[in-house]
Amino acid sequence: MKTVAVLVGSLRRESINRKFAESLGKLAADRLDFKLIEIGDLPLYNDDLWANPPQSVLRMKSEVEAADAVLFVTPEYNRYFTPALKNAIDWGTRPWGKNSWAAKPAALTGATPGATGTAAGQNSLKGLLNVVDTVLMGQPEVYFTYKPELFDADNNVVDPSTRDFLNGWVDRFAKWIERTSEPKVQAQA
Ligand code: FNR
Repeated sequence: MKTVAVLVGSLRRESINRKFAESLGKLAADRLDFKLIEIGDLPLYNDDLWANPPQSVLRMKSEVEAADAVLFVTPEYNRYFTPALKNAIDWGTRPWGKNSWAAKPAALTGATPGATGTAAGQNSLKGLLNVVDTVLMGQPEVYFTYKPELFDADNNVVDPSTRDFLNGWVDRFAKWIERTSEPKVQAQA
């Protein structure tokens, strides 16, 4: 089964985006293996730190590189994606020539209590994901207005139409990963 590195743009303990990411992971469990990647321990990007690279940075880069695909789940802050996520993405692009995002099949989504479902925040992120060389799935878009009653206490999606909609998205993402994955380089005998 293909693995998906999941980066959540919120650092908040009770983050609805973290919960939403967990809900998606549970829905996808028969098709994709989601692995949440911690980004809250990354220092603010500073090129000088490469002289003695922080363990958190090396860990994040190797976890992303080990995954078959990446999923970004971000809140919208003032119509933008979050600085925590920008910081993590920037770390992933360095050192020069060692871009952890290169050629990774990718998708993005986000949740808000608000009616616009993080549409502006997600659209601000799309350009960056192209720049850092992910292979980004354009459709279907999931602009998610988070309502607690759609989920149970364990973050399972209980609302049938929401479940169907999100299951359709998981199917498309799983197919996208199959279609756009570069063949793994075989070790030479
Ligand atoms: C927000 N929020 C918000 N919501 C939205 O739909 N559009 C927006 O532009 C903003 N802007 C914004 C800025 C800042 C600085 C904060 C802290 C919040 C509200 C936001 O959607 C809400 O707090 C979510 O609960 C944040 O996601 P997590 O942390 O719960 O995952």
